[in-house]
Amino acid sequence: MQKPKYHILVCCSFRASGAPQGVCHKKGAVGLLPFLENELADRGIDALVSSTGCLKVCEKGPIMVIYPAGWWYGQLDETRLAAVLDVLEKNEPATSLLIE
Ligand code: FES
Repeated sequence: MQKPKYHILVCCSFRASGAPQGVCHKKGAVGLLPFLENELADRGIDALVSSTGCLKVCEKGPIMVIYPAGWWYGQLDETRLAAVLDVLEKNEPATSLLIE
């Protein structure tokens, strides 16, 4: 198995039942997934995207975390996502968009 360079977690607010209910889902996180996948492919970024349950920072959602670096981003929309990917191409964080 070849491991990807990046593992990107996108909170989609999945609950134990599997139902997507929560802040990130309500703010359109699921709709960001195809945009993210397309952008990664277009840019040639080697990343695996996983949708997750609540990452416990709901007030800052939608949330995305990029490993192995552990860069956490919040309040994502397509514009902010594209800005993150612009610098990820250089293996750098979008420092102004990081959350603590
Ligand atoms: S629902 Fe996304 S962080 Fe809680």
